[in-house]
Amino acid sequence: MKITVIGAGNVGATVAQLLANQELANEIYLVDVLEGIPQGKGLDMYQSMPILSSDSKIFGTNSYEETANSDLVIITAGLARKPGMSREDLLAKNAEIVSTCTKNAFEKSPNAIFIIVSNPLDVMTYLALKVTGLPKHKVIGMAGILDTARYRAFLSMELGVSMQDIQALVLGGHGDTMVPLKRFTTVSGIPITDLIDDEKLDAIIKRTAAGGAEIVGYLKTGSAYYAPASATVQMVEAIVKDQKRVLPCSVLLEGEYGIEDTVVGVPVVLGKNGLEKIIELKLNDEEKAMLKKSSDFVHKNIVECMEMMGIK
Ligand code: 2OP
Repeated sequence: MKITVIGAGNVGATVAQLLANQELANEIYLVDVLEGIPQGKGLDMYQSMPILSSDSKIFGTNSYEETANSDLVIITAGLARKPGMSREDLLAKNAEIVSTCTKNAFEKSPNAIFIIVSNPLDVMTYLALKVTGLPKHKVIGMAGILDTARYRAFLSMELGVSMQDIQALVLGGHGDTMVPLKRFTTVSGIPITDLIDDEKLDAIIKRTAAGGAEIVGYLKTGSAYYAPASATVQMVEAIVKDQKRVLPCSVLLEGEYGIEDTVVGVPVVLGKNGLEKIIELKLNDEEKAMLKKSSDFVHKNIVECMEMMGIK
């Protein structure tokens, strides 16, 4: 297993470190345009492996040559938000960066599965599909696991129960329009609405939707990376170990949920082929309307991005 992580910033470096700690690849390449940064961080991580009893080898580089024939490529490159910015404010700059990085990586690893992490997430995943021409099962965006994790963490804080016992699902675009589904939220099978009043649950859902911005507000110079990196690594593990996990991921919808030609978060099965199945839930009218609002918003940004990049 050879994995390439593009972008040696906080998210990329943390992804590389977690992959190595969990020995999910024999070789991990950390790529960045900044000279010395991927090399320094890579060597530092390499030196932590004897302590962690992992035989993963991590290499930092500024070139794509060494990444050739990767099984998996993770795109984290791009700018992060500053306080007051929406993910969409990053669109113009990150579209150029993600397009270039993805093309370069794809040239060297045409058989790889791509996981996209850069923001605005759903639009960047669509862009990566277009610039590589890869089928939808090989280009998957990370967002739903992160948003669901935030929701589960907040519920655990409120209820004082183990996070492991909270099952939940967040659909839609990665942004303010995301759709946490109350009906699919349980604590070991107990409907969440039996355990918490509506007002508190709504407040938690609101906090979840603004979960990324809350962290940006604290950090000021960047955005979250521990939870985003953990979510990314859960996707990698599902693919590398062919676990067939059911996880919310951002994928291209072509009629599923009545949504056409748009990337948004829905529950999927992840295994060795990447996206192996899209699970279509029977949503009620209210949930359908929320998902439509979210996917319409993403679609508008996709159209804008494709026009800007001159992609048909
Ligand atoms: C977040 O939600 C960075 O979009 C990422 O924190």
